[in-house]
Amino acid sequence: MSQIRVDDEIIVRIPTMYYEEPYFEWVQANRDHLAKWLPFAAAAKTRAEVRMWLERRTSPEELESRIGGLIYWQGELVEAANLKGVGSSDNAGELGFSLSESAQGNGIATRVCWKLIDIAFAEKDIHRVMIRGARENHRSRAIAERLGFTFEGFQREAAFLQGEYQDLAVYPCWRRSGQCSQRNLASCSPRLTRGFLAQSSFPKTNSVRRLHDFSFSASSDSSRD
Ligand SMILES: CC(C)(COP(=O)(O)OP(=O)(O)OC[C@H]1O[C@@H](n2cnc3c(N)ncnc32)[C@H](O)[C@@H]1OP(=O)(O)O)[C@@H](O)C(=O)NCCC(=O)NCCS
Repeated sequence: MSQIRVDDEIIVRIPTMYYEEPYFEWVQANRDHLAKWLPFAAAAKTRAEVRMWLERRTSPEELESRIGGLIYWQGELVEAANLKGVGSSDNAGELGFSLSESAQGNGIATRVCWKLIDIAFAEKDIHRVMIRGARENHRSRAIAERLGFTFEGFQREAAFLQGEYQDLAVYPCWRRSGQCSQRNLASCSPRLTRGFLAQSSFPKTNSVRRLHDFSFSASSDSSRD
């Protein structure tokens, strides 16, 4: 599998060293935007540092433990999303994501997350998926809420961001919890309903079906390589 087709606009490409140049250019253009919430991702400054990061990221162990990669939206690299934890003893995954500043507001991250969760539950035996976002990172937390994740609480001073320790809001979702439902997506954002569900391959007739159910119905999706 070299890529995951999310919908007509979005493809997630599994990283290889081929992407060194576009990824380096992307980091240069988006360093300030990233630095606020993902300082470690913004830290690679030189081409050599980006290459080393990509080499680590493309090792067989890393690739096996993740679902996701680089997000291409309308043919343009707009950053990455990954669900880590595949093969872990607890079958627990964590979603991470970021976008170019200019690509925000189009539902790209939400749509990609939905697809990665679908694969995790349907094909990778993941039981629990978690999203964590800094208390003040409203855009990140909105993705968890739009997807119907449950707010579990704060991890106090768990991240060092912008020169201080900040709380992380924790949002889990379980394979059989009934969360992440299509109904949740629909009720959280009218634009999301129009833009995303219209393209979704999930059944539209029963809006309260669980993602778990969707997952198995979508597991033979031939749109992925
Ligand atoms: C976190 C981050 C990825 C969120 O980006 P985002 O654009 O807000 O999220 P989405 O791509 O899901 O877009 C959602 C928005 O697009 C809208 N939208 C438009 N068309 C849409 C469509 N077809 N489908 C879904 N949503 C759509 C939604 O209504 C929502 O808008 P709103 O915020 O005005 O309600 C981005 O802010 C970022 O990269 N931040 C820096 C890195 C970071 O913080 N990462 C997370 C660390 S935990």
